[in-house]
Amino acid sequence: MQPARATAVAHPNIALAKYWGKLEGGHNLPAVPSLSVTLAGMATRTTVEVAPGLAADELVLGGKAAAEGERARASRLCDLVWPGGLEAAASGAGAADPAAARPRVRILSHNDFPTAAGLASSASAFAALAVAADAALGAGRARAELSDIARRVSASAGRSLYGGFVELPAAREGEPSARVLPAVEVAPADHWALAVVVGVTTEARKEVGSTEGMLHTARTSPYYPAWVASAPAVCRRVRAAVLARDIAALGEACEESALAMHAAAIAARPGIVYWNGATVDLMAAVRGLRREGLAAYFTIDAGPHVKVVCEQASVATVETRLASVPGCLRTIAARPGPGARVEP
Ligand code: DP6
Repeated sequence: MQPARATAVAHPNIALAKYWGKLEGGHNLPAVPSLSVTLAGMATRTTVEVAPGLAADELVLGGKAAAEGERARASRLCDLVWPGGLEAAASGAGAADPAAARPRVRILSHNDFPTAAGLASSASAFAALAVAADAALGAGRARAELSDIARRVSASAGRSLYGGFVELPAAREGEPSARVLPAVEVAPADHWALAVVVGVTTEARKEVGSTEGMLHTARTSPYYPAWVASAPAVCRRVRAAVLARDIAALGEACEESALAMHAAAIAARPGIVYWNGATVDLMAAVRGLRREGLAAYFTIDAGPHVKVVCEQASVATVETRLASVPGCLRTIAARPGPGARVEP
């Protein structure tokens, strides 16, 4: 019998309203709502092959055996996809682990964009893996379940299951049912000809990963409670602006979300500063474009790159201006794209 095998493709996403912080008590539940746009043009392609003969799952990233931590995360995702796995995790049942019966898998994954480009490759990677594992293992899970599963492994990955504009609500405290938290599509990719232009400011990997950075912020930043209290209203403004295709309202809320997230991280003890000099110069350049009448707004994730949100008609002007800033190594332009899917 041929081993079951499936390949899936997924795209990274950029949060217009940021996720930063988790609820206590496990399950990787976000403390704040976030809203992102899934980006076409860059992709992770992942093949999952059922390999019952293996003693342990294998993960090969870009042709190289992955580090143990990455392999363990991928295995955990496959355990959740396996029938009964998600249900056991969501109920907190401590009894027999349904995933013990899961056959081992060989996972081959490849990004067609550089990992250091400041685009969260983990989002597209875990979204592609969820879809490929579901198909290869014959689990037949609903899209919302796959989003919930990917979210448990990396919250932003839950958003890349969907295309276009996608919201991941904040978790509610309490009941086991509150542990089920998929992302939802707010508007499809063709809703708005929006663009994101990345100004790449380093080829180095980031020093403090998102998970570590947000945990440290939550534990030590005096501004963290203010961030959590203010984030929902900003996310609502982002959603309303997306639905209304209002670039000025979107851009203002988007900059506010990013700056408030970074302010909370900078105020941690010790402070986490993700920016370099070029980050600050690029922010100034974007505001300079605005003073000249061009609707361009920035957002920044857990790294020094600047992502500019604008309409597709403005991409060339934005790219030229970013490229003129010393320290901007190159630019990458992207537009709204589809959700994760099995490749025929
Ligand atoms: C700054 O989704 O990578 O990109 O759930 O711990 O894996 P974990 O975190 P992750 O955090 C992303 C943080 C961010 C903002 C965002 O994408 O919303």
